Amino acid sequence: MFDVNEIRKDFPMITNHPDMVYFDNSATTYKPKRVLDAMMEYYTSYNSNIERGDYDTAVRADKAYDHAREAVAGLANCETKEVAFLANVTAALNQVAYGLAKDHLKEGDTVLLSEAEHASNLLPWFYLSRQKGFRIRYIPLDKQANVDLEAFKDCLDDTVRVVSLAYVTNVLGSVQPIKEICRIAHEKNILVCVDGAQAIGHRKVDFKDLDADFFCFSSHKMCGPDGVGVLIGKYHLLQEMDPLLLGGGMNARFYADGTYILKDAPVKFEAGTPNIEGVVGLSSACEYLTDLGMDRINAYEEELRRYFIGKIKDMDQIVLYNPDNLSGPVTFNVKDIFAQDVAGYLASKNIAVRSGNHCAKILHEIIGTDQSVRASLYFYNTKEEIDVFTEALKGLSLESAIDVFI
Ligand SMILES: Cc1ncc(COP(=O)(O)O)c(C=O)c1O
Repeated sequence: MFDVNEIRKDFPMITNHPDMVYFDNSATTYKPKRVLDAMMEYYTSYNSNIERGDYDTAVRADKAYDHAREAVAGLANCETKEVAFLANVTAALNQVAYGLAKDHLKEGDTVLLSEAEHASNLLPWFYLSRQKGFRIRYIPLDKQANVDLEAFKDCLDDTVRVVSLAYVTNVLGSVQPIKEICRIAHEKNILVCVDGAQAIGHRKVDFKDLDADFFCFSSHKMCGPDGVGVLIGKYHLLQEMDPLLLGGGMNARFYADGTYILKDAPVKFEAGTPNIEGVVGLSSACEYLTDLGMDRINAYEEELRRYFIGKIKDMDQIVLYNPDNLSGPVTFNVKDIFAQDVAGYLASKNIAVRSGNHCAKILHEIIGTDQSVRASLYFYNTKEEIDVFTEALKGLSLESAIDVFI
């Protein structure tokens, strides 16, 4: 049984702000005490650099770092050697784009993206397409940003070499049929990179079953600390791929004549001293989520979302952009009121949401607006909080929104 009131006690941000309704979980999630304790323990009991020292605390740090690969592999069902730690999902997506653009893509090739992507899964490709001369095309989406598989198939001409897509989109929560996309793409030898930032902490991710070539995510969106991201990749592809960053830790040997030999993946992607405490915290977050059970988390979040949609879908003043998506945030506008004014009004009621374009700056091609309010839930939110939210919305008018600012 999923006892949300017990779960809430795990989160110091909730116990320290008992009256705050935090619905900005797509931006970042709260961290359970267990994760914070794990990081504190690293700094107070075995603070040492990794892969360099022979003394006890250094060996303990090495073991904790290696254990983190096992924790990620356990959560995402991949091999430990397929897990590289980078700074965030942005760094991981840049690494994949750079690596593929360098050796896999050439002038005349096509990379397929979607208009619902976050900047982190667009800008690296934009930049590299100008450098290398490959083209970018967008997979057609429906009004709630879901990929239509037939339309996807129609996009796959002989020039397509790579597809890079979010598993769950960050504004509309569209869950893309990644497994099917991978199957169809692989029939034509097309590689698939998945931005898993809004998926990994919310649903069961099975890297092997999805059969994606690369899967990237950030720790801070799944109960882990900031400043750590994960690149999971099929091992032979990681081995073939050049790292974006070079330096200490990731080289096996270098010589005065300027030649060098890199270590094997995943270490070759981890140049410099990594965010050791972050990796330790991420490890603990993976175990925390695994213990709660990803299927139970997902089922509870879907129930919350249905409840939320049920409460706001018939409100006259609300324009809802994703009522039918099962997962992810609830995204809307209040008629005649600027999205940021709505967020400001809600903030005055101690409710945290995000407003604006949410780093998905070409999504307006689909939903027709550049500004929306996003209420994003996580498994520690409650139906009572949704009631507080909807009651607050009922009290919102142009006058009450303006009152907040004068
Ligand atoms: C789908 C998606 N991709 C990428 C990112 C970028 O995440 P980060 O800032 O942790 O690199 C986000 C952040 O909101 C996201 O939602």
